[in-house]
Amino acid sequence: MSTRRRQPSRMQQAVDFPLDWLEERSGLVGGVKYFLFRKVPADTNWMQTLGSATLTAFLVQTVTGVILAMYYQPTPNDAYASIVNITDHVTLGWLVRGMHKWGASVFIILMFLHMGRVFLFGAYKYPRELNWVLGVLLLVMGMAEGFTGYLLPWDQTAYWASVVGINLNGTAPFLGPWLAQFLRGGQDIGAETLARFYSLHMLVIPGAIFALIGLHLYLVIRLGVTSPPWSKEAAGADRADEPSQLREGLTRPAARGAGESE
Ligand code: HEM
Repeated sequence: MSTRRRQPSRMQQAVDFPLDWLEERSGLVGGVKYFLFRKVPADTNWMQTLGSATLTAFLVQTVTGVILAMYYQPTPNDAYASIVNITDHVTLGWLVRGMHKWGASVFIILMFLHMGRVFLFGAYKYPRELNWVLGVLLLVMGMAEGFTGYLLPWDQTAYWASVVGINLNGTAPFLGPWLAQFLRGGQDIGAETLARFYSLHMLVIPGAIFALIGLHLYLVIRLGVTSPPWSKEAAGADRADEPSQLREGLTRPAARGAGESE
């Protein structure tokens, strides 16, 4: 039998060359392969795609939000008119605005469904408590994103909903009055408030969500995916590259699906 290796075809070389170039300089290709080809329990099911569905909804919000920001004008005089312009005159503006508006609800609903799945599978237990806490922060940020976005059309509904929301925040103990003042940017809701909500809505909160999702996914990859409660497998137990302490932890009964004995 010949031991000579077959020369890769020209097509193969054309694909390999840029990938090898990138890998040698960044290690990124190895990282992506690790992410895509990691082991998951054999009985992983559709409910475990809810996290990825939430991520997809967030990315849709990001893309449609960037397009809307190209036409939206965050001043009391122009905000509503710019929204009407997007809906009635910008090519496919009605579609992009509709996707962003309804997508916001889809994002929140998916986040709750994902959280429910994590809770019912007992996937918040050791060693994933920290990821649960990150998830709670994501939930808070997601709702803050909805609240700040609601004011932006600057119509009657938006205005009065924000008055109620800000006043509600103002009734919280200790930090409440300070928070209400910060959100209003003064005594009344006006130009300052709109600018503040816009900045929070399109810069601060999405930035925080991106960072939190990065940490959240890092922990998902590091800890492995939880088996369903009815599973006979221990999650991530056969991963040779785990630190030994963690590997031991993952094979302990507490790290198994919620339905298994502890
Ligand atoms: C922007 C919002 C969120 C995104 C994009 C997201 C994304 C994901 C993804 C892709 C996974 C892995 C696949 C899966 O289990 O579905 C995951 C797992 C997890 N998520 Fe989230 N998530 C979000 C919000 C939350 C919330 C609100 C919680 C709970 C309060 C949470 C807690 C967890 C936990 C504990 C895991 C590990 C589950 C396991 O190992 O089976 N996440 N998340």
